[in-house]
Amino acid sequence: LTTTATAVALTLSAGAAFAACDPGETVIKFSHVTSATSPKGLAADLLAARVNDEMDGKVCMEVYPNTTLYDDDKVLEAMLNGDVQMAAPSLSKFEKYTKKLRIFDLPFMFKNMDAIDAFQNSETGQAMKQSMMRRGLLGLEFWHNGLKQFSADKPLVLPEDAKGLKFRVQPSDVLVAQMEALDASPQPMAFSEVYGALQTGVVDGQENTWSNIYTQKFFEVQDGITETNHGVIDYMVVTSVEWWEGLDPEIRDQLATILHEVTVQRNTESTNVNEQAKQAIIDAGTTVRELTPEQRQAWVDAMKPVWAQFEGDVGADAIAAAQEIND
Ligand code: LMR
Repeated sequence: LTTTATAVALTLSAGAAFAACDPGETVIKFSHVTSATSPKGLAADLLAARVNDEMDGKVCMEVYPNTTLYDDDKVLEAMLNGDVQMAAPSLSKFEKYTKKLRIFDLPFMFKNMDAIDAFQNSETGQAMKQSMMRRGLLGLEFWHNGLKQFSADKPLVLPEDAKGLKFRVQPSDVLVAQMEALDASPQPMAFSEVYGALQTGVVDGQENTWSNIYTQKFFEVQDGITETNHGVIDYMVVTSVEWWEGLDPEIRDQLATILHEVTVQRNTESTNVNEQAKQAIIDAGTTVRELTPEQRQAWVDAMKPVWAQFEGDVGADAIAAAQEIND
C-alpha cells in the first residue's frame, strides 16, 4: 500500500478513510457516526493509519465516519452478520446487549473525565468489556469523548427552563428517564438526524459533548449552550467474538497492542479536543452559559433521583465503586 494508492482511494471514496486493500489482506471495516475530527474520528483514523502501516500485507483497515456505512441502531447487528468488524458506539447504545453500561448514562454519576477513566480501568469497568460475549460481542477498549452539555432554542439556566421542551436523546431508557425527571419530552433519535431536527424545530434541544456540538454544527441552530457537564459520552470499541477468535493469534495480538496504544494516546487528548471545540463555538459568537454552584445544584437535585430507577440494572456495588472513585 503506497501513499499514492491511499491518496487515490481517499479521493474516490468521498471522505471515508479508505486504504486500498490488497488481495489476501484481512479487511477490517470500522464504522462510526461522528466526524473525522471528533475524538472518536481521530482515534479511528490513527488506528487505521497504524494498522495499514505496521500490518501491511496482513491486515487492511477502512474507516467509515459520519454514518456513511451504518447508524448506531444497525451497526451491532451488522457486526454479528460479519458485515463490519469494528465499531465504537457510545456506551448508551448497548441496551439490547447489556444493562451494565447504563451506569454511564446516569446523570452526575462521575465528577470528571479522570473519574470515568479510573472507573473504566477498575475491575468493575474492565469486566464490562466481557459482559456481551454471550450475545456475540466483545469489548476491546474504552474510548473517551467527554462530558455532555445541554442546549435548546431558548436559554437554559435552571431545570425549570427545560420543562415542556422536546429534547433529542440517544436511544437509551436512562436518558429518557433523565429528561422525564426534568418534565421535558425526550425524543430518541439517530445522531445523523439531530441537526435537521433542531433546525426544523422537530426538537427544541439536545445534549452532547462540545466536540459533537461543534462538528455537527448544533450550536448554529440553538439559542446557546449551557455548561452542565451532567453526563458523559464515551465509547466501547467492540468486535464480534466469532471474528476476533477466528483471527490468527499473532495478528490478533498485534492488533490488540496497536489498539491499546492508540487508546492511551487518544484518550489523553480527548479533553483538549473538546476544549478546542468549546472555544471555537465561543469564537463563532454563540452564547455559552456557565452555571453558579447553586444553579448547578438545582440540576443535580432534579436529575439524580433517576439513579434509583436503574440501580437494579447497574448494581448498587457498581454505583458505590463509582462514587468511591469520585471521592
Ligand atoms: C450520539 O448519538 O449523540 C453520540 O453517540 C454520537 C457519538 O458517537 O458520539
